[in-house]
Amino acid sequence: MSSYSGWRLPEAAECEVDEPVVDEPVVLTTREEIAERLRQTFASRGYEPPVLPRIALELMKLSRQPKVPLHQLEQILVQDPTLTGQILKCCNRPRFGARAPIRSVRAALMRLGIPEVCNQVLRISMKSRVFRAPGWEGEVDAVIRHSEAVATYASAVARLADQDAPYAYLCGLMHDLGLIAALIALADQHAGARPDLELAWPALLEVHEGATRLVAEAWELPPELVDVVADHHQPDLAFVGERGALIAGLVVAELLAQQEGAGLNVPGASDFAAGELLVRRACLRLDLQGKLPQVVKAAKATAGD
Ligand SMILES: [Fe+2]
Ligand SMILES: [Fe+2]
Repeated sequence: MSSYSGWRLPEAAECEVDEPVVDEPVVLTTREEIAERLRQTFASRGYEPPVLPRIALELMKLSRQPKVPLHQLEQILVQDPTLTGQILKCCNRPRFGARAPIRSVRAALMRLGIPEVCNQVLRISMKSRVFRAPGWEGEVDAVIRHSEAVATYASAVARLADQDAPYAYLCGLMHDLGLIAALIALADQHAGARPDLELAWPALLEVHEGATRLVAEAWELPPELVDVVADHHQPDLAFVGERGALIAGLVVAELLAQQEGAGLNVPGASDFAAGELLVRRACLRLDLQGKLPQVVKAAKATAGD
């Protein structure tokens, strides 16, 4: 694990920047300059985190309420026929093991469960080009692909460790959200003049945990989930309580994604990779010693849509 200490969004009182950072095209020439400008952008009161489609946000909020009636979720989802079609297509994939075709949103919610359907709504929404970073589309797509892979491995880890698999999947899907926010901010700042990737990626990685917190809070994700995704590179937290188990799951999932070719292979990424000792401790925490091949097999059986 790196010596990196995670940047966090300053409290309002600490924040001296009242206005949005003026997005004049500039070319920043050092990693420190790029990171600092991103921090200023995220700390400015005018900063607006990337938004999800309204339907996805409404669905996620409603799904967290206890005993939410299925028809309410159904009513929200069917407002977007394209999304509904994609969800039904996804729910009929072999990975969900439906014996008979799922033909309605109600059937999908009943057979797969609310958390799983919401996860797929979120995944599909993230992939539908809602995140606009002109000039950086390839990088955004790479982060989304990586996040999907980590989500799949985190879910497989959770199933083997007897944990809440859909929740672990959601943590995996969200864990590097800050990188997407940082890519969007960078694209806004540098319209037309991309900084050197060797400088930009390490700067993006440096600020990404704090940015993940910012976006996850803006999306009103559950506070405990916000803490997990915003601290996923913090080894000291990896083994404490419920949150520790989820962070340990992300550590293992990140390693497996890397080993299986779905790592985030960008300049500076190795500084954020968990070391052997941390992975061993994570496996111990989850009672997964010697079971990683099993996790990979289970994840591969559910991936691929
Ligand atoms: Fe990360
Ligand atoms: Fe990651």
